[in-house]
Amino acid sequence: AQRSHIDATLAPFLLSLETLREVRNKMRTELEYGLKRETQANATVKMLPTYVRGTPDGTEKGKFLALDLGGTNFRVLLVKIKSGRRRSVQMYNKIFAIPLEIMQGTGEELFDHIVQCIADFLEYMGIKGARLPLGFTFSFPCRQASIDKGTLVGWTKGFKATDCEGEDVVDMLREAIRRRNEFDLDIVAVVNDTVGTMMTCGYEDPNCEIGLIAGTGSNVCYMEDMKNIEIVEGNEGKMCINTEWGAFGDNGCIDNIRTKYDKEVDEGSLNPGKQSDRLALLQVRRILQQLGLDSTCEDSIIVKEVCGVVSQRAAQLCGAGLAAIVEKKRENRGVERLQITVGVDGTLYKLHPHFSRVLQETVKELAPQCDVTFMLSEDGSGKGAALITAVAKRLHNVGQ
Ligand code: BG6
Repeated sequence: AQRSHIDATLAPFLLSLETLREVRNKMRTELEYGLKRETQANATVKMLPTYVRGTPDGTEKGKFLALDLGGTNFRVLLVKIKSGRRRSVQMYNKIFAIPLEIMQGTGEELFDHIVQCIADFLEYMGIKGARLPLGFTFSFPCRQASIDKGTLVGWTKGFKATDCEGEDVVDMLREAIRRRNEFDLDIVAVVNDTVGTMMTCGYEDPNCEIGLIAGTGSNVCYMEDMKNIEIVEGNEGKMCINTEWGAFGDNGCIDNIRTKYDKEVDEGSLNPGKQSDRLALLQVRRILQQLGLDSTCEDSIIVKEVCGVVSQRAAQLCGAGLAAIVEKKRENRGVERLQITVGVDGTLYKLHPHFSRVLQETVKELAPQCDVTFMLSEDGSGKGAALITAVAKRLHNVGQ
């Protein structure tokens, strides 16, 4: 009786190939909505232009500060990039805690805390007086009007600080630096972690035009042809689009595969109606916490099975979404077969025993005309933020 109960409970988590194909097609539709002028205002998958117009070309150089906020760890980094024959990237970083009461306090408190961490880092590195260019990896949905302006659309991933939504986070950081009145920094770029990841991997492999995160949240960015981005002027070249695909399904388009457990987790989350939860990480976490409290061996086996099925679904859904992206890129290029590299980061992808394999198998199955290479971003997205800052600074200095 227990077996049939388990089977019945888990059945809605098992997705057929046909269902995954449907998910891929729906994602494709949502991507187009987000890019088109008439539909983008109401699009669920926001397709945010990032003003990053190219991947690194190896000529980037200089000394930069980077902030990395939005994943498991908040980090401050010093990145030294050398170009030419002795091309190299050196990084020094320090992880800082962001206490829960700061994540959910006021915006001023959050940004004051960030500036406090920068001050500690500058002191720790012995570069207190330096005025360095700074790249701000801020991995929440931001509407950008240029590389150094980003208005927070809405908090996700457990953040909830007040008075930030609708505000420019670069301004908020500048104001906090001014309030402290101890050092000056030149904030050159605001960067999503997907973009930082793509740039980090793009530095090693010029074929890397997609960045994927599977961690605290899930998101993807990719280089899109300018002519397809209707809300940005110009038709030449490419621009990186931050899809913010964690919101996929918020309009009900995949309600047919949503289980009652998804709804429960969503309603109990800090940002109800918003992404991350669909990856079901919290379900796994909650079950594991219960496991730690009071469980028998038999319970453990069941929990393991539940985790397996839930995480398999997460990897398959991620794979179906990615299949939509690579297939779109293949069509953009007008080629029979596409060779493309995806830069990847995130603890779920890196540490889960099966997630990466299931994800890769799903992409292969659902985008058979694309040869996709997955490249791990070894140093996080801080390096990418520094590379973007280097390019932006170079363009800025020549008056563009
Ligand atoms: C890190 C990146 O390596 O991975 C961050 O530097 C990113 O920018 C993070 O947000 C994502 O993974 P997780 O598992 O920490 O959410």
